[in-house]
Amino acid sequence: MVNSEKINRYEELLLQVRGLTDGETSQVSVLANVAAAIHAAMDFWWTGFYLVSGDQLILGPFQGPVACYRIKRGRGVCGSAWERGETLVVPDVEQFPGHIACSSESRSEIVVPVLDSSSQVCAVLDIDSRSLAAFDQTDAHYLGIIAQIVSDTVFTHSLANQRPPV
Ligand code: SME
Repeated sequence: MVNSEKINRYEELLLQVRGLTDGETSQVSVLANVAAAIHAAMDFWWTGFYLVSGDQLILGPFQGPVACYRIKRGRGVCGSAWERGETLVVPDVEQFPGHIACSSESRSEIVVPVLDSSSQVCAVLDIDSRSLAAFDQTDAHYLGIIAQIVSDTVFTHSLANQRPPV
């Protein structure tokens, strides 16, 4: 996909995500619809959220093939993005030490931390592609905005009773 088309798709997606999240307070519902919206708009292979629970990430709402339930802090791309508190763009998952292969079809990946109101990572947005080097700084930019919208919508209020069980 050329960059101008990618930007156009993300701009439309942002409008949709703003509409989908406006006024909704259910964490699982918002995460489910945001994952579905991203996945449909961008033709990704796997799009979903992992939620921080203690020292691990637990699988949250997603679109795509079944995935592993739990990832320890510092493990895989997701656990590394959580530990470092930064977006990781992985052009070739086979070159990422410790990559966790939930699907053998996955070739490249991006993981974007979702921060709570204390700037702590409370979840990650994880996206896989079946193409090598599918993700770049344009993806990091727009997915970072979406992560912020998600955070503002369902992670900055008192939602302790909506977290998944450990
Ligand atoms: N590849 C991820 C694991 C999650 S799946 O991609 C859905 C990782 O290395 O953390």
